[in-house]
Amino acid sequence: MEIKAAIAQTILEAAKKAFPDCTLDVDFEALLEVPPDSKMGDFAFPCFRLSKALRMGPPVIAQKLCAAVDKPELCRSEAVNGYLNFFLNRANFARETLSNILAAPDRWGSSDDGVGKTACVEYSSINIAKRFHLGHLSTTVIGNSLKRIYDFQGWNTVSINHLGDWGTQFGKMICAYKLWGDRETVEKGGVDEMTRLYVRFNQEAKDHPELEDEGRAWFKRIEDGDPEAMEIFRWFKDVTLKDALRVYDVLGVHFDSYAGESFYADKTGRVVDELRAKGLLEESDGAQIVDLKDYNMPPCLILKSDGATLYATRDIAAAIYRKETYHFDTSLYIVAYQQDLHFRQFFKVLELMGYDWASQCKHVAFGMVSYEGEALSTRNGVVVYLDDLLNRAQEKALEIIREKSPNLENKEEVARQVGVGAVVYATLQNNRIKDIDFWWDRALNFDGDTGPYVQYTYARCGSVLRKAGEQNAEADYDALTDDEAQAVLRLLVRFPEEVRSACRANEPYMVTRAVTELAKAYNKFYYEHRILDENVAATAARLELTKAVRSVIKTGLYLIGMEAPERM
Ligand code: ARG
Repeated sequence: MEIKAAIAQTILEAAKKAFPDCTLDVDFEALLEVPPDSKMGDFAFPCFRLSKALRMGPPVIAQKLCAAVDKPELCRSEAVNGYLNFFLNRANFARETLSNILAAPDRWGSSDDGVGKTACVEYSSINIAKRFHLGHLSTTVIGNSLKRIYDFQGWNTVSINHLGDWGTQFGKMICAYKLWGDRETVEKGGVDEMTRLYVRFNQEAKDHPELEDEGRAWFKRIEDGDPEAMEIFRWFKDVTLKDALRVYDVLGVHFDSYAGESFYADKTGRVVDELRAKGLLEESDGAQIVDLKDYNMPPCLILKSDGATLYATRDIAAAIYRKETYHFDTSLYIVAYQQDLHFRQFFKVLELMGYDWASQCKHVAFGMVSYEGEALSTRNGVVVYLDDLLNRAQEKALEIIREKSPNLENKEEVARQVGVGAVVYATLQNNRIKDIDFWWDRALNFDGDTGPYVQYTYARCGSVLRKAGEQNAEADYDALTDDEAQAVLRLLVRFPEEVRSACRANEPYMVTRAVTELAKAYNKFYYEHRILDENVAATAARLELTKAVRSVIKTGLYLIGMEAPERM
């Protein structure tokens, strides 16, 4: 970013002048901030880091530096409380910023922070034979966004869907299928039919407890790789995944691996042996556990008394497998906050096993989702299926579009982008840990902090540019010195920092917020200034700004997992 580099260079020169006997070993550019309030300048340099080396208070340093700054054509500076604030010459700031962005508009906000590093990103991780419901929306959407953000920051990413496809319930389901099901009904009814079979099994088992043994026997056959059991089990998985893939398709979500719990079933033996060899395994009521009392946690269950593995055992095997296969530098688990203890436990076990990379594993937790004020639950509360929700979103968006833009050509296509986008946006609007209450009126409102609002701004930029047509006047950046244009420019300059922070904190909402602020600032500019003016040079500058905004909004939307409709 040349403008930032130029300011950094200015500080360096000022420092040499102000403190000639001191060599300062600091990265001035990295320390430069963009203050949240423009009254504090376009850039601010915090002097606190120099305090020790110079043996001076930050306010004094700021003052001395300020007196030494001598670049009137670039900026003016001001010392305030230990900060050296820079106010750029507005026309220069506009020219520099726009030329930086427009040189490679699609790459604005990208970086090579992650080059040479690998991130495993596990998300969605749905359960086989269960319908994809709202409870799995956050993990899917947050994970997809994080994968895109990490990619954009130069990381090599591996996206993993850790399917919940192991457990005695699958034996019961096969047993029920053998007793009462038939292939055609399951093919047609899909996951719902499997659920019906499972529910019936549990009901009938109340009067016929021997069914439980049969169910267990079928699971044993899965464990032993019996061909008939495996065939049915795989088919159940395919049927579930077919449904899920439809949802993934609509959301634009992809996975590099679907290795789920069953994939690790034959890799847990090694974990158990290793735990035993390392003296970590203890017996407790017939079960094998790792005691975690010293770490203020209940024990981590490794083997049940019948020798069956547990959720944690498979997770330990999966973590080791991922390290050995992908050599990750970070391994993220996008999973609900409720599983916090589980993650802390098995991360601790990995650490106790001597794997120092355990610290590279991170539970990226998120809060609960409720729907129009009602808690979600599979047991007694409302169940909202994701495909229903996404269909409703598209229908509702279509209604609004029909009313607002009756002449739009591809209404269905735009309704898909807007409806799905509204759901994605609502999911990524606040920091992860905050509970989400999903309301249609809020999500699909075209004004305010919503997906449609940002998409609308993107389409507006496109429409301005189309109306302008071919223009070849030289831009006059004095046309961008007003407060509204400068506010837009500042947000454009901040955008790369926002993406970087989002990546560091695993918080996609930082991108949502950045792109929303940008849309708001651009709309303000749009309402207060004529973009297509008689003055062609002013028009050219405002069109450049529009182009940059359009491109950065598109990038931001992409990073959170939304599409950008050309017209709305
Ligand atoms: N399938 C689990 C669920 O739906 C989530 C799996 C989370 N990932 C993991 N590695 N344990 O609750």
